[in-house]
Amino acid sequence: MTVRLGFIGTGSIAVSHLANLLAQPDAEVVALCDLAEERIDAAREAVARKLGAGGRPLDAAGYTDYRAMLRDERLDAAYLCLPPFAHGDPEEAVIAAGVPLLVEKPVALDLAPAARIQARIHECGLLVATGYQLRYAPYADRARELLAGRQIGQAVVTRFGRTPGTPWYHRQDRSGGQLIEMATHQVDLLRALVGEVRTVYAAAATRINHLRQPDYDIFDANAMALTFENGAVGSFVNNFLAQPGLPPSAGQLQIFADGLNLAIAGGLRVVTGDSVTEESDAGDAMARQDAAFVRAVAEGRPDLIRSDYANAVRTLAVTVAAERSARSGRPIEVAQLLAEEVPGL
Ligand SMILES: NC(=O)c1ccc[n+]([C@@H]2O[C@H](COP(=O)([O-])OP(=O)(O)OC[C@H]3O[C@@H](n4cnc5c(N)ncnc54)[C@H](O)[C@@H]3O)[C@@H](O)[C@H]2O)c1
Repeated sequence: MTVRLGFIGTGSIAVSHLANLLAQPDAEVVALCDLAEERIDAAREAVARKLGAGGRPLDAAGYTDYRAMLRDERLDAAYLCLPPFAHGDPEEAVIAAGVPLLVEKPVALDLAPAARIQARIHECGLLVATGYQLRYAPYADRARELLAGRQIGQAVVTRFGRTPGTPWYHRQDRSGGQLIEMATHQVDLLRALVGEVRTVYAAAATRINHLRQPDYDIFDANAMALTFENGAVGSFVNNFLAQPGLPPSAGQLQIFADGLNLAIAGGLRVVTGDSVTEESDAGDAMARQDAAFVRAVAEGRPDLIRSDYANAVRTLAVTVAAERSARSGRPIEVAQLLAEEVPGL
């Protein structure tokens, strides 16, 4: 079966998915929708540049209204590549049309809107994937295999960068900030490798970036102390204060287990008492995710999806807990937050 796909939102991440999908013979992108027509043209051009002369042409109809796209096209699946603040109604419309979907992370800015979508998905039993592609990286499989059955003591994550230039990024009510929007990938990977987070106690501040950009209101320095359900403890430090030239090794995810240390920074470094091995990250995690999604739709195989909507909501809950902890000065229990705000998850 060829899977007929439509896109809602054709900005920068859509271009990456489109290029992957055009390289897949069993996928056909038939429609592109963006509020801004010029973003559709820009996406077509960017994909053509990325694929080069031999690439398959992106022969898809353009729409500026996703409701019209859903009405006029016979879609087997849809990609939602929207900024965090734009989620909600588009998901509702795609779900109402009975079309399976892949929603980019974060799936919402807060838990209440995500709870509404989760309830609709549960009612309809629809196949929904979310864009946590690190779960598809070969190193994630290898790390899980190495950690299976071992006692984990501690996890330490660092992620440093600079605020992206995207117009919505520096506003809390648009992006949700670095942790909810970006470092959510490492939170999700921690959940996959270490286990569910029990408590989050966070400190955060806006210290520097607002000095030159007065409407900048997201935190630019974040620190969390974590406990996990299995008893492990963790720390997670991220900021938007990195200068160009900071070595890439400054950002990594490390796990200290019984007889084994793992460090993920691009690839996977495995340290045991008598050996150190490096395993490169062979394979593009996002391409693997896109291939798994298309196959899951074609074959009706939700088991191929490594992050469904409920998983994305659990990851969102950890980052929302951090935001609230930083603002209130109190530790937050993630299970209690989910029980109160996403009943039935
Ligand atoms: N998985 C990853 O590694 C990864 C990487 C980058 C971005 N993302 C995520 O993808 C999402 C989009 O990021 P981006 O960088 O592509 O943003 P972007 O701003 O480049 O693109 C978003 C597009 O959505 C369009 N849009 C907004 N509301 C719309 C609506 N109602 N209908 C149709 N189009 C609408 C905008 O016009 C814009 O063109 C974000 O949530 C981001 O976190 C994921």
